[in-house]
Amino acid sequence: MWAELARIGRDPESGGYHRGGWTPAERAATHWFTDQCASRGLRLESDGIGNLVAWWLPPSPSRSSVASRQPVDKGIVTGSHLDSVIDGGAFDGPLGVVSALAAVDRLRAEGFVPRVPIGVGAFVEEEGSRFGMPCLGSRVAVGALPADRALGLTDRSGTTLRAALEASGIDAAGVGPSPLLERMAAFVELHVEQGRGLVDDGAAVGVASSIWPHGRYRFEFTGEANHAGTTLMEDRHDPMLTYAMTALTASEQARLAGARATFGRVAVEPNGTNAVPSKVTAWLDARAADTAAVESLLEAITRQAVERAERDGTAVTVTAESVSPVVDFEPALRDRLVAAIEPVVPKAPVLPTGAGHDAGVFSAAGVPTAMLFVRNPTGVSHSPAEHAELDDCLAGVDALALVLKDLAS
Ligand code: GLV
Ligand code: MN
Ligand code: MN
Repeated sequence: MWAELARIGRDPESGGYHRGGWTPAERAATHWFTDQCASRGLRLESDGIGNLVAWWLPPSPSRSSVASRQPVDKGIVTGSHLDSVIDGGAFDGPLGVVSALAAVDRLRAEGFVPRVPIGVGAFVEEEGSRFGMPCLGSRVAVGALPADRALGLTDRSGTTLRAALEASGIDAAGVGPSPLLERMAAFVELHVEQGRGLVDDGAAVGVASSIWPHGRYRFEFTGEANHAGTTLMEDRHDPMLTYAMTALTASEQARLAGARATFGRVAVEPNGTNAVPSKVTAWLDARAADTAAVESLLEAITRQAVERAERDGTAVTVTAESVSPVVDFEPALRDRLVAAIEPVVPKAPVLPTGAGHDAGVFSAAGVPTAMLFVRNPTGVSHSPAEHAELDDCLAGVDALALVLKDLAS
């Protein structure tokens, strides 16, 4: 499975993945997934925006699994996402999907018979790399993002989500809160760890305690386009300078607060070598251990950006594009996972993460949710260099199979 999926959407030069939501590569990965589910006789269900859950149903005298159209009873859902950040790694998302299918195969091979359905999920546009909204599919599914706002989101070329869905043959009228949610008695997402959290612990697999809150903010710096050769330095109103100082401030403030601040995306207009720009748009990703810390970080960065804009004769506006609250996973379920995986990972470490996940969205919506992390030996993620060792990934499958067995018995 890994070898097949690893070929889809990979840039041969960088080795990174380009699987933005509803792009040909992401659609190919999704088709790969639906084929895998069909070959296992799982019953595939999709919601309006295209989130997928493929069910392994317990035997029932009144139901002939795949063929029956009876509603699925509440079950345990596992899985992750198949989309990627721009030039992302192979593991972020796909590891959870492949491990879920592998865990189902393992349990079937052992002759395990689930008491409740087990669902393997693939949720769309988790990274928000195309439409800017993290966890787009799950946010729409739980009703946290209204359909009209979602459908109006645009990608970098101005294509709306509505148009992208229609181009993929998906009727935009169906976008909205998902019936799949009602079937989720619990959700367990396995994911590659995205820092060096498990390296010092010497553990192949860990269990998540919480997800840091985070926000994505659009900073628009406007100034005055002018000639690079003739405009005296003191006559300029250069928004690039205001932006540059804001990026330095963001780093400094985040360091002081023990938080994270990143400007990873910038658009310059008109983007010419020999012109002072008229506008710089830059996106801040800010994260910290609690919401108050994210808010005060944003406030400090904004204050200094405004002060610098006054000096530069430029203007700055700040717009929150998405805000995600802190997620504390249910302690009882978390502890149950630690106990369940004891045979594979004795005394599994419990750790927080600064990365966002669909698991956080489902948890905030009231679904009992937990996460397993597979060790990342370098801590590098959102990069072609992201890696996990095969043995650790196999331990992840073992651990996930134990968890599913425990929860579905
Ligand atoms: C998603 O992986 C995020 O944390 O941005
Ligand atoms: Mn990611
Ligand atoms: Mn992910």
